[in-house]
Amino acid sequence: MERIYLTTPLYYVNAEPHLGSAYTMIITDTLARYYRANGWETFYLTGTDEHGDKVFEVSAGAGIPPKEFTDRISAAFRDIWDKCGITYDHFIRTTDMYHVRYVQELLTKVYDAGDIYFDRYSGLYCFGCERFYTEKELVGGKCPDHLTEPKLIEEDNYFFRMSKYQDRLLRHLKEHPDFIRPEGFRNEVVAMLREPIGDLCISRPKSRLTWGIEIPFDRRYVTYVWFDALINYVSALKYKGEAAFEKFWPEAQHFIGKDILKPHGVFWPTMLMAAGLPLYKHLNVHGFWTVEGQKMSKSLGNVISPLVMKEKIGMDAFRYFLLRESVFGQDADFREESLIGRYNADLANNLGNLVSRVLAMQQKYFDGVVQPLGPKWAIDDRPLYSKFAQAEEELKGYMAELQFHRALESLWSALDDANRYIVRTAPFTLMKYPDKDKLFRVGEVLHHMLEVLRTLARLLAPFLPDTADQLRDLLNLTAATAKPDAAWGACFTPGHTVKPPKALFPRIETEPKK
Ligand code: MSP
Repeated sequence: MERIYLTTPLYYVNAEPHLGSAYTMIITDTLARYYRANGWETFYLTGTDEHGDKVFEVSAGAGIPPKEFTDRISAAFRDIWDKCGITYDHFIRTTDMYHVRYVQELLTKVYDAGDIYFDRYSGLYCFGCERFYTEKELVGGKCPDHLTEPKLIEEDNYFFRMSKYQDRLLRHLKEHPDFIRPEGFRNEVVAMLREPIGDLCISRPKSRLTWGIEIPFDRRYVTYVWFDALINYVSALKYKGEAAFEKFWPEAQHFIGKDILKPHGVFWPTMLMAAGLPLYKHLNVHGFWTVEGQKMSKSLGNVISPLVMKEKIGMDAFRYFLLRESVFGQDADFREESLIGRYNADLANNLGNLVSRVLAMQQKYFDGVVQPLGPKWAIDDRPLYSKFAQAEEELKGYMAELQFHRALESLWSALDDANRYIVRTAPFTLMKYPDKDKLFRVGEVLHHMLEVLRTLARLLAPFLPDTADQLRDLLNLTAATAKPDAAWGACFTPGHTVKPPKALFPRIETEPKK
């Protein structure tokens, strides 16, 4: 059986879920649903990153002890993803005891193997990023992400011998050209590896920070938040048992935003090498979303919340927009005008109207009762079936390449054909002066169209899960009776009755209410 292990980054609990994190969740959820439906053994992991300076500061600011604070925010994250219908299999918190223990176990192992050493260090530290910067990485002396000057810090710390694994990682990238995708990000990591990467400072003295995982061989220190958090991808599987680890580890596909490429593309694989573990299969890197052309920020007040979007336009429409409007790996812009444009054109007009028209005719002409297909398909019928079979085939390739926009394009191209099929076969014209043959033909045409809807319910399900459920319900089928494996024309039993139409996506005439 084929397997896939999908992971999202663990979100810092100092901010709420927003468009950026929702995008990663929606992509990974779509893939998890797709692969599950196709019979793959799937494990889908998300969670929260709870240690470190940033979280500590925010909890102190709120006047709440950090554990209590993270309990609260982590639960809120989970609740929001649940309300968004995200089907993760496990939610990990870096404060979970099994994770803490596993991080300490791994630190001990790497320390015993001689890949962790103690040294004095002075360097430029950005508190926003929680990492040291080299002069070269700074832009005009400032952190490129936070636009603040890093602070010079001098202290004794533990270091991970990352440099030891530099050549091996470069070789791995050469031998596995799609290890990091898309290619532009792979090239960025290759460029990083062409310069000396140095060793990684992996501890923080408790005199400066106590909110972290204690270094098992020196209680005066806690673990650097990235060294702790990255290990979640393995600790979660270990928690599920050795069998889960054996099954899913080599199949790991990490999904991240481009700002955290270095920890995932350089720190993490070298850490795995030091721990004697095989490397993950793919690191999939997506771009950044802007909002109406601007960087999303609290101060600008333009942060898009997934739950607000759910309420305004529906979760499926939000998912559709994010997946259809962006190209994986590239930056994208969120515009209300484009959202409504796509909603009206693709969802209300194309998909919604098709469903309504078919069910309305089925109701009007046959009281909802599905009619039989004749022994031979008419000339118009075969291409309709073939088009959907082709879309399904294309979908397979596009999902493997993370080209969600193309997958949806293929499906919508089949939808266009289905709309044209109705125009060409013109059941309404045939029904103007019906006779026995015409009536039989209209029954057949509508049967084909109900097959279109049944196929759509299946193919759309990973992208628009609620719509797929509603569609199935309108067809009076359940997940089981929709028989995913039944051939075209072999699902509806004699006398099966479908329901009257319902507007799945009512047209939006004006801006949605704020
Ligand atoms: N805690 C670390 C990840 C540790 S993984 C072991 C972290 N957390 S984060 O909450 O700051 O960011 C989580 C994710 O959100 C990152 O992948 C980041 O790229 C993504 N995004 C934040 N803003 C974004 C956009 N505007 N657009 C797209 N993704 C963005 O980093």
